[in-house]
Amino acid sequence: MKITCIGAGYVGGPTMAMIANRCPDITVKVVDMNQARIDAWNDPDLSQLPVFEPGLDEVVSEARGRNLFFSTEVNEAIQEADVIFISVNTPTKTYGAGKGQAADLKWVEKCARQIAEVADGEKIIVEKSTVPIRTAAMIKSVLNGVGKGEKIRVLSNPEFLAEGTAVSDLSNPDRVLIGGDDEDAIETLAAVYAHWVPREKILKTNLWSSELSKLTANAFLAQRVSSINSISALCEETGADISEIARAIGTDSRIGPKFLKASVGFGGSCFQKDILNLSYLCDYFGLPQVAQYWRSVIELNDWQKRRFAEKIIRSLFNTVAEKKIAIFGFAFKKDTNDTRESAAIYVCRDLLIEHAHLAIYDPQVSIEQIISDLEYVGIDNARELVKSGVITTVEDPLEAADSAHAIAVLTEWDEFRSLDYDKMFEVMKKPASIFDGRDIIDVTATRRIGFDVYAIGKVENEEAGWEVR
Ligand code: UDX
Ligand code: ADP
Repeated sequence: MKITCIGAGYVGGPTMAMIANRCPDITVKVVDMNQARIDAWNDPDLSQLPVFEPGLDEVVSEARGRNLFFSTEVNEAIQEADVIFISVNTPTKTYGAGKGQAADLKWVEKCARQIAEVADGEKIIVEKSTVPIRTAAMIKSVLNGVGKGEKIRVLSNPEFLAEGTAVSDLSNPDRVLIGGDDEDAIETLAAVYAHWVPREKILKTNLWSSELSKLTANAFLAQRVSSINSISALCEETGADISEIARAIGTDSRIGPKFLKASVGFGGSCFQKDILNLSYLCDYFGLPQVAQYWRSVIELNDWQKRRFAEKIIRSLFNTVAEKKIAIFGFAFKKDTNDTRESAAIYVCRDLLIEHAHLAIYDPQVSIEQIISDLEYVGIDNARELVKSGVITTVEDPLEAADSAHAIAVLTEWDEFRSLDYDKMFEVMKKPASIFDGRDIIDVTATRRIGFDVYAIGKVENEEAGWEVR
């Protein structure tokens, strides 16, 4: 069997690498129009892969050149494939109808049209990208338009992997979901996964349920984070501790312990995009109450990010102008180089608007990425701010802390737990503050050192007296 995947991004790359790794009898070709990305996947130095995921280098190295290939020859790969995955980007629309809400399906449609144009014979198209419900109908129409609808089947097979844990999620998924209306096609795809996934974990369903399940799963997960974050604000006002609440409610088997970590706000390429998309669909189908219910999950998240930045500003005597603030972490969560919708972008933006100076430390994120993210949220002069030293990136957290008034922990990189905070305190301006947006700093120990510490969902140190109500 031959599999082609269009799109060598965060989803297509790791997913196809795992399929190739576990199915030596299947030839897998990943194609992308982005030459630089394909070159990076082909780079002999596996540390330069375009996607940073723990363990991915090993998975790729075992299969690459054997039955896993990366190329820009899209048409050729479409022609030779039995199964074609579409794993292209489906970001929120930035123009026209549905701007800021609907998913932009132009890349999916382009793929469908390209397949319709060049494919011959029987094939299966698999929607891997997260798409709105009924996208498969669009793909089918495109195929029918050129008379290929009979020979080319369309399946929905959403990917549930989370970034940073892609390899373990792919090797041991909770479930694989396949939606379609053709039993043979469904079974062909199920047989691929059955190389390593137990049959009982391969769920078969119809197209529309499969498409909507993905949006629903992400909406539920994001809702849990907003729910715990809403209670974190109440904890700070009342003296309850959000970690204790999470522990207490998480032991209820109906609630469960996962995804109850209060934070500065969720980020990532999926949660916000998928909820906006879900709300848009609800409005479209005449369900404004449902749309508003899900939108409130995002509103709460936006408020949580803003609240955190405001807390920093208020605590530093209502001004951060020309004060250096050490930013620990810029990625949207640990163990990834992805910054899409990262809470750090918005917190940094709010601080820059107040003329703060930022020294950013993140073990995986480049300065170019930071500039482009800040420009995207309205800091148009981000590049000049870098040139003039208002924004710097550093290789070492201690360098970030040097002469800083505060440390803001925005990503939960493990290394932040074991830094030498005594040394940090020594080199910082006094009073020195820590704002922990990830609940990873030892509050008691750092307060003992002399820091004023604010941690999401924890009561403030009354003695420090750094918030006058
Ligand atoms: C998510 C879904 O988990 C995954 O199934 C889907 O395929 C894609 O979207 P991802 O965005 O990679 O995956 O990361 P996830 O681990 O879900 O975290 C999303 C955001 O929520 C991160 O910013 C994370 O820091 C935050 N989060 C998560 C919390 O703040 N608290 C939690 O308890 C869990
Ligand atoms: P995701 O997180 O969903 O994987 P990414 O943006 O990381 O999304 O990756 C999507 C990839 O799809 C990009 O590398 C982009 O160049 C590629 N792509 C989009 N449209 C096409 C197309 N028509 N042909 C080939 N590659 C495409």
